[in-house]
Amino acid sequence: MGRLIEERDLIGRREFIRSSVMGASCFLFSRTAPFAGASPAGADSRIEVLLGEPLGTISPNIYGHFAENLGGVIYDGIWVGENSAVPNVNGIRKELVEEMRKIKAPVVRYPGGCFADSYDWRDGIGPADKRPRRTNFWAQEESAAGPANHKYDPNQFGTNEFIHFCKLIGSQPYIAANVRSLPAEAFYQWVEYCNSPAGSTTLADARASAGYADPFGVRFWGVGNESWGCGGNFTAQEYAVEFRRYTAWVPRYGQELSFIASGPSDDGWDWTRGFLEEMVRKGSGELRDIYGLALHYYAWNLSRGRTKDWNEGKGDALKFGVLDWYELIRQGDVMESLINGHWQVMGEFDKNHSIKLVVDEWGPWYRPGSEATPGDILEQTPTLRDAVFSALTLDTFNRHPDKVAMANCAQLINCLNSLYLAHEDKFCVTPVGHVFAMYAAHQGGQALRTIFSSPPVSYDRDGKPASFWGLKGSASLHDKDLVLTVVNPHVSETRETEIGIRGGSLRSGSATTLTHSDIHGRNSFAERDVISPKTSVVDFKGKALTYSFPPASVTRLALTLG
Ligand code: AHR
Repeated sequence: MGRLIEERDLIGRREFIRSSVMGASCFLFSRTAPFAGASPAGADSRIEVLLGEPLGTISPNIYGHFAENLGGVIYDGIWVGENSAVPNVNGIRKELVEEMRKIKAPVVRYPGGCFADSYDWRDGIGPADKRPRRTNFWAQEESAAGPANHKYDPNQFGTNEFIHFCKLIGSQPYIAANVRSLPAEAFYQWVEYCNSPAGSTTLADARASAGYADPFGVRFWGVGNESWGCGGNFTAQEYAVEFRRYTAWVPRYGQELSFIASGPSDDGWDWTRGFLEEMVRKGSGELRDIYGLALHYYAWNLSRGRTKDWNEGKGDALKFGVLDWYELIRQGDVMESLINGHWQVMGEFDKNHSIKLVVDEWGPWYRPGSEATPGDILEQTPTLRDAVFSALTLDTFNRHPDKVAMANCAQLINCLNSLYLAHEDKFCVTPVGHVFAMYAAHQGGQALRTIFSSPPVSYDRDGKPASFWGLKGSASLHDKDLVLTVVNPHVSETRETEIGIRGGSLRSGSATTLTHSDIHGRNSFAERDVISPKTSVVDFKGKALTYSFPPASVTRLALTLG
C-alpha cells in the first residue's frame, strides 16, 4: 500500500463563508450592463453562457449506470429475492427502484465488466429453482467471510430479472456479451431470446413461459468487455477480427441494434488505432457496425507520480487530506483529454465520426477498507470528494455531446463510485447519487458553450507549486429552461461569481447545492442525510447575477430565460 497521507485534521470542519446556500446572496445587475468589465465589487470569477453557441444535444444516456454481477452489486444490492423481508418488487429492492425513478436513469449496463466474459446467459433463464449455481468470475477475490451467493452465482437474477428491473426504473438495457468464453452463436441466441417476436422461435417461447411474451427490444449490445485483458487477452487486431465475426449478420427482428466495441483503457491510443486500423483493412464499410467504442477510465493513482503500481498507487476512500482531494480532481480532469485524444485517433479512420465514445466504466477506485458491508469486494464509501469528482466528470461529458453517446458510472450500488449503498434492510443514497439527481436536468438538453474564468486553485504539491482551474461546469438549454452546473473544487474559498447570459436575459431560477463543512462528509446507513442537496428559489431580472459558490461544492442553477 502506498504511504497514507493523513491530512484530515488539517481540514477538519472548515469554516467558510456560507453564502445563503445558495441564492440569497444572488444580487441583481443592471439589465443593460455589458458582461465584460462589469464586475461588481467582490466578484472574483465569471461564467458566461453563450446562448448562440450550441454544442449539440446531450444524450440522456451519458447519465447511465453499470451493474455487474460482482460482490454485493446484484445480490444484496439490486436483488433481494421475492421472499425477502426487505421490501421488494418481484425480488428487486423497492427503495432502489424508487430512487432510480427519481434520477431518470436512462440505461443500465449488465452483467459486466469482467464477469460478462465468463457468463453463460442460458444459466440465468427458465424456472428459478432449476437454474445452476456457477463459480462467479470474482470468486477468487472473495474472502472467506464473503456470502456464498457472491462466490457462487445462484443465477436467480438473469436476463428476465434484469429486463424487469430496467422496466421498473424506466431504463434501457445495455447487455455486455461474452466473447472470451462463448461462441458467437450464443451471442446470436441471446439476441434471439431477447428480441424475437412472440411465438416466432423456441427461445421466444421460453421467454413467454417466463411471463414475457413481448420481445424485450434490447438495442445496446457490448461485444465483450476489456478484450485486451479479462475479456480474452486479445491484441487490438485479434479483437477486431472477433468483433467483425460476432457482429456479422446478427438477426435484427425489426429492432435497431447498436454494437459497442470493447475499447481502450485510459490513454490506450494503440488499442483505438489498432482496432480501427484492422477493422478498415477489410474496407471502410466495416465501420458501419460499430455504434460506439467503449472507453474505461478509473481515477486510481493518487500517488502524485511516486508509483504506477495498481495497489501501491491507490488512495483511501475516507482517510484523505487536501492534497489527496486535489489529486483526485486532477485525475478527474484527465477524462477530457482522453475524450479528445481518442476522438482524434478515431477520426483518422472514421472521417465523419459516425462512431461515438461510450465511456461505460468511470469513477474513482480506492484501496479496500471503506466497505459499508464488510466482505463486499470492490465496495467503497463515497464522500463529498466523490460527488465533486462525479459532477466534474458529468460536466465533461456534457461539454462533448458530439463525441460521447453514453457513459456508465462504475458501479450503481455497493461497489466503486456507487450512487447507493445497501445491505439487507439498510439503504442510503450517497453523495454521488445526489449528484446524479441534480444533473438529471441536463438530459436531452442543448449543450451550450460556457466560459469559466476564476482564480486557479494553487497549492504545494510535494515541494513544487501546482495549480488548476478554479471553477468548471456545463450548461444546457431546454426551450427557456437553462441548467448551469458548477463545481468549486477549492477546499476553503468561496467563489463570488458573476454569471452572464450572452444572447438572453434571466427571469427567475433556483439554486441547488451539495456541500458540507467537512470535505470527508458522507452518508451511511446510520446517518443517511449528512450530505444532501439544498434548494432555494432565486428571483432576479436582467442579464447577469452574481452567485457565491461555496468551497468544495457542486451547484445546479436552474434558470428561466426571459
Ligand atoms: O468495475 C470493476 C471492473 O473494472 C470491471 O469488471 C472491469 O471491466 C474493470 O476492470
